[in-house]
Amino acid sequence: MLVAVASVKGSPGVSVFSLALAACWPAPARTLLIEADPSGGDVGVRMGMATTPGLVSLAAAARHAEDLLVVWQHAQVLPLGLPVVAAPADGDRARTALSALTSEPGTGTRLVRAIASEAVVIVDCGRIEAGSPGLPLARCADALILLSRAHAADLAHLAHRLPAIGGWTPQPVLLLVGNGYSPAEVARELRVAPLGRIPDDPRGAALLCGRTIVRPGSRVLERSAVGGVARKVATTLLARRAIPIPRVVEQRLAPGLHVVPGVPTAAISANGLKPAPQPFHEEIPSRGGRAS
Ligand SMILES: Nc1ncnc2c1ncn2[C@@H]1O[C@H](COP(=O)(O)OP(=O)(O)OP(=O)(O)O)[C@@H](O)[C@H]1O
Ligand SMILES: [Mg+2]
Repeated sequence: MLVAVASVKGSPGVSVFSLALAACWPAPARTLLIEADPSGGDVGVRMGMATTPGLVSLAAAARHAEDLLVVWQHAQVLPLGLPVVAAPADGDRARTALSALTSEPGTGTRLVRAIASEAVVIVDCGRIEAGSPGLPLARCADALILLSRAHAADLAHLAHRLPAIGGWTPQPVLLLVGNGYSPAEVARELRVAPLGRIPDDPRGAALLCGRTIVRPGSRVLERSAVGGVARKVATTLLARRAIPIPRVVEQRLAPGLHVVPGVPTAAISANGLKPAPQPFHEEIPSRGGRAS
C-alpha cells in the first residue's frame, strides 16, 4: 500500500505525522518511510542519520534498477526499527534527487509502486503543488492524506486547491491539525469530511523529532496522542481498501452556511471530490474566538 502525506500551506506537521504513521502501522505489515519533500528532508538531521544512503543514492540507483531490493538498500533503519529513505536537508539536492527519481516514467515511481505491493510505503511529499517533483508519487498513491491547520487562512487556501487536488486523486483524506474550526464546519464548507484531527502533542512530536529517544519495542509512540491518531488512520485506510466507497452525489451549498470566512463558494462547490470515509474523530466544540 502506498500512502502519500502532504500539506498545501504552512508546516502543519507532515513529517512528524508521516513518521508516526509508518512507525505505528499495525503489524505484521513491513513499513518503509520515504522522504520526498522537495524543500529538503528533516528526518535525517532530527534522528542523527548518516547522509548516505538515502534519496540521493536511491535516485541514482533507480535509473538502472530491476530489483525491488534496491529501494530497501537505500534505507537506513532508525533506532525504533523503522527503515527510512531520507532526503538531504539541502532543498536543492533533495529537489534534484526527487526529480531524477520521478521524472522518467517507468523508473523510480514504478519501483516505489512495486515495493508498495509487498509493503506499506509512507511518502512524505511535503508541501505539494502542481509541478512538484513529489507529485507523481502522490498521484499513484493508494491514499493521499492532506494535513491542514483548522484556521480560516489555512482552510481558505485548501479550498482553492481542492479542485486541482481532485484531479490528482478522487478521494483525498483530510486531517485537521490542532484547534480551530470543527470537523463538521470544515466538512460543510469544503465538501470533504475530515477523517480526524491530530491534536497538539508536543511530547509526541518530541519523540518523532528525535528530541526524546524511543527504544526498539517501546510502545511509547503508540501511546502518544499523535501516534494514536496515526494508528486509527492506518486502520481506517486498511478498512477502506477492503470495502470500496460508494459514489456520493454532490450536494449544492445552501446559502448562509459559510461559517469559514474566506472560503470561496465556487471553488468548494465544484471540487468534484467524494467525501472521505467515515470519520473517527470526536467532535470538538468550536470556540468563540478563532485564530485566522
Ligand atoms: N501534533 C503536533 N503537536 C505539536 N507539535 C507538532 C505536532 N506536529 C508537528 N509538531 C512540531 O511542528 C514542527 C513542524 O513539524 P513538521 O516538521 O512535521 O512539519 P512539516 O509540515 O513537515 O513542515 P515542512 O513543510 O517545513 O516540512 C516541529 O517542530 C514539530 O515538533
Ligand atoms: Mg516536513
